[in-house]
Amino acid sequence: MCGIVGYIGSKQAQDVLISGLSKLEYRGYDSAGVAVGDGACIAVRKKAGKLANLSGDLAAAPLSGTFGIGHTRWATHGLPNDTNSHPHTTEDGRIVLVHNGIIENYLTLKEGLLSRGHTFRSDTDSEVVAHLIEEAYAGNLEEAVRTALAQVRGAYALVVTHVDHREIVAARTVSPLVMGVGEGEMFLASDVPALLAYTRNMVFLQDGDMVILTDDGYRITDLQGNPVQRDVDLIEWDAEAAEKGGFDTYMLKEVYEQPQALTNTLLGRLHDETGEVSLDIGLDPKSFKRISIIACGTAYYAGLVGEYLIEQLARIPVECDVASEYRYRNPLVGENTLAIAVSQSGETIDTLEAMREAKKGGAQTLGVINAKGSSMTRELDDTLYIHAGPEIGVASTKAYTSMVGAFLMLALWLGRARGTLSDKEGAELLSAARELPRLVEEALRPERVQRIKEVAEKYAHARDYLFLGRGVNSPTAYEGALKLKEISYIHAEAYAAGEMKHGPIALIDENLPVAVIATESRLLEKTISNVQEVRARAGKVILFLSDGDEENAQHGDDVIYLPRAHEMVSPVVNAVAMQLLAYFTATALGKDVDKPRNLAKSVTVE
Ligand code: F6R
Repeated sequence: MCGIVGYIGSKQAQDVLISGLSKLEYRGYDSAGVAVGDGACIAVRKKAGKLANLSGDLAAAPLSGTFGIGHTRWATHGLPNDTNSHPHTTEDGRIVLVHNGIIENYLTLKEGLLSRGHTFRSDTDSEVVAHLIEEAYAGNLEEAVRTALAQVRGAYALVVTHVDHREIVAARTVSPLVMGVGEGEMFLASDVPALLAYTRNMVFLQDGDMVILTDDGYRITDLQGNPVQRDVDLIEWDAEAAEKGGFDTYMLKEVYEQPQALTNTLLGRLHDETGEVSLDIGLDPKSFKRISIIACGTAYYAGLVGEYLIEQLARIPVECDVASEYRYRNPLVGENTLAIAVSQSGETIDTLEAMREAKKGGAQTLGVINAKGSSMTRELDDTLYIHAGPEIGVASTKAYTSMVGAFLMLALWLGRARGTLSDKEGAELLSAARELPRLVEEALRPERVQRIKEVAEKYAHARDYLFLGRGVNSPTAYEGALKLKEISYIHAEAYAAGEMKHGPIALIDENLPVAVIATESRLLEKTISNVQEVRARAGKVILFLSDGDEENAQHGDDVIYLPRAHEMVSPVVNAVAMQLLAYFTATALGKDVDKPRNLAKSVTVE
């Protein structure tokens, strides 16, 4: 995460930067910093902790100047202290930058820079870029940034300035960056709300764009220096709509954020050259004989996918438990157990207490968690952050798919370390994981979303729903039913499809929509047999098939096609369809999807 801002114009830059950062604190608040230029020098002020620490300091001793850059940090590399805070500068203080993203090859780049005499002040990946720019600088900042970026691999939204130039150079790849166009002033920020107080004319910069801002305006190029044209959009959203990114609800915004959230989950962790996965976890992957996954609700369903993936890929026995049960069932733990808590908030009391129970029993503990610095992250031995960004909609969406993405990496990491995965399988799964953001983007193409909306509206008045899936996608069915229940209040049941004949089949009649996940898998034929059992009893089958599966389309009353995905990553892609089915059902019924009745985002009571 991290939020960044930039300003050049006639106002006091400090005020614009602090106002912008205050709207970006949701992106991280480990530290904040600004750099302000007055033509003669660029002064940097930065402080660990929330923005209020920095703004208090600046109020007491303001920085004067009319251009500058700012940053609010969500630490990835290096502790959240003053030194690791942004902006970063070169030793002589002439080049100043802020960065959001992860420079994946920073260690190799840093070794090279150290051997060429550079001295580093921070432990961050970002500082490396300042030194690369310094090395390339020969009087032209834009050229130097371009040369530096040619060496960098990873994700960045980068804003740079130099003491000798009244200009700001910025670039983006993967991490977001929007430019505000004012009269005689220009702005940059990670997100629209940071700029709305100043301008409504905005340019959404694209991957590979570089922009050069001066008092007179801006120029956009690609990373090779070729001119690029981008539209200036007039943003008509009010402040609340801006926070929802122009979507009607936080939930829909978060559904659409999934490609970015997954990119962040995977970023810097998969290494194509070696087929390795680096998770920055201190635990020894060979030291466990058993794994217990513990969670609640949607996070529990992500855990069930995790159970499947870890058992398949790493061949370790895994049990997945609902936390409220685990904590009271006097579980047999044992020293060679790894207990994994899965949680968006990191605060769910049942999960926290269950993990305390596991710890007491001798387990090593790991969190698969979104919220930085949350209670669980402080108590557990280690945390694998999912980096999905803040989730505000009560119904979990992007946290779920990022949790599943994190479990895929965890299973690969364990499988590689324990020798249960061949190089070939490892490489195949690694590239399937890499594909995830693109596949989810594909699943969110307008015509696909429209198709799900049509089907959702067709069945929106059903009294009950049944969801079926098999294997790694049976949790997808559970998650589909939960999403539908919580935001549309339609009663929904979910079963592993093979289990249907043992009871739930009695529910089926012509009024029951049955959503069946039947995307490509080893069990597809068996799933289709279950579908036939539903149809034989006049149930209405909504069939989710992989693109190109025309043969099985005859078995559905309504067919929804989803992008083809490797079976092991398909739960992520298929979950997006479940979210949309629930969403459009709820909105067709006029429900408040962001605030479903009786629910809370973080459940800190038993
Ligand atoms: C459903 C949902 C809940 C949470 C559950 C656990 O959409 O969001 O079921 O998944 O309350 O919350 P966390 O993940 O914060 O522990």
